Amino acid sequence: MKNKYLYIETFGCQMNVHDSEQMAALLADSGYKLTDNMKMADLILFNTCSIREKAAHKVYSELGRLSKFKEQNPDLIIGVGGCLAQHLGTKFHKRVGHLDFVFGTHNIHRLPEMVASAQKKRGKITNVDFHKSLNSIGIYAPPVNGSISAFVTIMQGCNNFCAYCVVPYLRGREMSRTPEDIIEEIKKLVDCGIKEVTLLGQNVNSYGKYIDNGVNFAGLIKRIAKISGITRIRFTTSHPRDLSKELIDCFAEEEKLCEHIHLPVQSGSNRVLALMNRGYTVEEYRVKVDHLRRVCPQISITSDIIVGFPQETQNDYQETIDMMEKIRFDSLFSFKYSERKGTVAQKFTGKIEECEKLRRLKQLQVLQDKYTLEKNTALEGTRLELLVEGKSKNLESDLTGRTSSWKIVNFKGKQKLIGELVNVKISKAYLHSLRGEIIEN
Ligand code: 5AD
Ligand code: SF4
Repeated sequence: MKNKYLYIETFGCQMNVHDSEQMAALLADSGYKLTDNMKMADLILFNTCSIREKAAHKVYSELGRLSKFKEQNPDLIIGVGGCLAQHLGTKFHKRVGHLDFVFGTHNIHRLPEMVASAQKKRGKITNVDFHKSLNSIGIYAPPVNGSISAFVTIMQGCNNFCAYCVVPYLRGREMSRTPEDIIEEIKKLVDCGIKEVTLLGQNVNSYGKYIDNGVNFAGLIKRIAKISGITRIRFTTSHPRDLSKELIDCFAEEEKLCEHIHLPVQSGSNRVLALMNRGYTVEEYRVKVDHLRRVCPQISITSDIIVGFPQETQNDYQETIDMMEKIRFDSLFSFKYSERKGTVAQKFTGKIEECEKLRRLKQLQVLQDKYTLEKNTALEGTRLELLVEGKSKNLESDLTGRTSSWKIVNFKGKQKLIGELVNVKISKAYLHSLRGEIIEN
């Protein structure tokens, strides 16, 4: 039988990256081999994002290019999944004529069935219903040969309804997998050589709230830490309001829990935080940051900030700048507010002009670059432990690894070190990476 090839283009967050891995695993069972060459694909999947307008535009323009492919090869199957697909549903077929199927965030498990129907040319397919079952998040994706890190989805959905955010509408309500399921998956991954797991969910630290088994997120971490073979545990993303004392203490007590937390603050103004429906004040956020740094002095703290939220005054913006000065994040993802259909903020008055949003964003990013470089420079001369991930992207002869604090370090070393923990001395700091020299043990 002729080989069939699958090409997947992934947009958006780590959750989507992992969903794509699950799609590839499911379709491997139907005989599809992954290719990174779109031209040789028999099946093309776009796993889409719609968190901001820009992400959605990118999807449309890339999808538009595929009509040529379909003209040249009428047997080519094209499907779109992910958040934008969930949002548009059948409208996606109207917008992009050459799609065979559209599937939402709760329907990944139905992919083989959709592909089979498309092969039989049974007309346009749309599956965007929400399900109460965990079918679409517990799919096992065997790691690619040689990889040492893997994502593990522990929950999906969000109940927070931040005023700007489409996620609760597109991923549905919070649903957690059972600890037994998660642990079984991690043990399987360990048997395939995985040493580091990143626990994924829209709001990981509210894990377990809606399952009746007495395990919360801190409890889950403690159980995962007992699995031999796992050397590092990471998680993303957590909500500051749900960051419990017990979870903070895990950073001191659990050796395997990496010294990094991504803790999106979104704004430094209490007025804006309230408008955003975030459920905490800047002061409460700072108390948690202080606590984290007290129990784990080396911890790196990264965050997300939105500028130009409706009604954000120059004074509110200045409060964000002041907060950044006081907290000094290790790095920051910052965004201009992007209006999303169906969200509460869409109806707010006091929208900020694009050019003003851009001005605020640029100024904030310049400031953060300064802090990031300062943080990285402070590591020069120190000794750090790395998990070696592979060859460096910039220079083939270099290896690259990550510190527990999530910083990238490039260094010279033998290929056999890939997958190992090594110690390096940091020789030079840059904005986006560090340079290290290996220390012989
Ligand atoms: N506009 C701009 N940024 C957004 N984010 C989420 N929704 C929006 C929006 N409508 C940002 C938040 C979130 C990150 C993943 O994306 O900062 O933490
Ligand atoms: Fe969106 Fe807020 Fe939920 Fe994060 S916590 S996914 S920002 S609604």
